[in-house]
Amino acid sequence: MSLLDVEDLAVTYQTGGDEVRAVRGVDFNLEPGQTLGIAGESGSGKSTTVLSLLRLLPASASVAGTVRFKGEDLAQAKWSRIRAVRWAEASVVFQGAMSALNPVRTIGEQIREPILLHEKVGKREARARTAELLDSVGVSAQRAAAYPHELSGGQRQRVMIAMALACKPELIIADEPTTALDVIVQAQILGLLTDLVAESSIGMIMISHDLSVLSSVCDRLAVMYAGKIIEIGPSKQLITEPQHPYTKALAGAFPTIGDPASRLAPSGLAGDPPDLRGDLVGCPFEPRCPVSMEQCRTTEVTLWPAGPERESACLRVLP
Ligand SMILES: Nc1ncnc2c1ncn2[C@@H]1O[C@H](COP(=O)(O)OP(=O)(O)OP(=O)(O)O)[C@@H](O)[C@H]1O
Ligand code: SF4
Ligand SMILES: [Mg+2]
Repeated sequence: MSLLDVEDLAVTYQTGGDEVRAVRGVDFNLEPGQTLGIAGESGSGKSTTVLSLLRLLPASASVAGTVRFKGEDLAQAKWSRIRAVRWAEASVVFQGAMSALNPVRTIGEQIREPILLHEKVGKREARARTAELLDSVGVSAQRAAAYPHELSGGQRQRVMIAMALACKPELIIADEPTTALDVIVQAQILGLLTDLVAESSIGMIMISHDLSVLSSVCDRLAVMYAGKIIEIGPSKQLITEPQHPYTKALAGAFPTIGDPASRLAPSGLAGDPPDLRGDLVGCPFEPRCPVSMEQCRTTEVTLWPAGPERESACLRVLP
């Protein structure tokens, strides 16, 4: 059984009379211990997709589809069940540790909280576990008494990772866990996260706009465009032999890590992604595609097999 099996996931935000169809039919699965990277430019629906899995979206979002986690459909589960799953079975590492951590509580208290809540252990054991967790992420256990503002950005992100690992989850969702950090610290933290999930056979979904970062960390990669996955396959293949023209642009772009301009238009492509209000007819990438054809404007393009373990949503890619 897959750890996670997502089928036909769709998310719509209601904003001031408009409906933003941010995720438009996403399917993927994740085996236990496997890592999946999700890439794509800003606004392509990466965060919306992964945050919907644990129902972490604002009330303005409506979600449809199936999210089977260890066989159980979380999309239909009660809130009490979702709360039990969060931290204990599946946890999230957010991008901005400063906003995700509580500024008026020590980091030790914050790491202990999910342990005390989800596992029937006493305070002494929770303290010992906190010290071990801090040690495993390379932060001195003595820093448990520190407040978030007393730590560097990299240390705070390490604390977030310790919290995510605290209850030994089977799935970690990491939404751009290192984007706010400088390049050297990014590499250290990604290396740390990857080692820790590999050691414990934890499944991981990691988001980044940077395909090269993802390919070095993940077994498989999915590329999103306008709310859909437009290509998915083994990381090395996807980056060295991209098939979809959008993946080709991303793979050839070599973004400057940490550069805000490369974050907004990582592909270096001219033009903008389509407006996500309303329907999209034909291939959503058509207006920017360097190899588009007449029929791309009207033919509905969905993911189809494009080689062993690979799928692509492009009329030019044949199985
Ligand atoms: N709370 C919200 N209300 C309305 N629209 C939203 C909301 N959050 C996101 N969106 C819209 O949904 C689409 C997808 O956003 P999402 O944050 O999932 O993209 P992303 O791929 O994670 O982008 P980034 O790389 O910038 O983080 C965008 O068009 C965005 O403007
Ligand atoms: S379907 Fe057509 S427009 Fe879309 S990516 Fe393929 S060639 Fe380009
Ligand atoms: Mg995002």
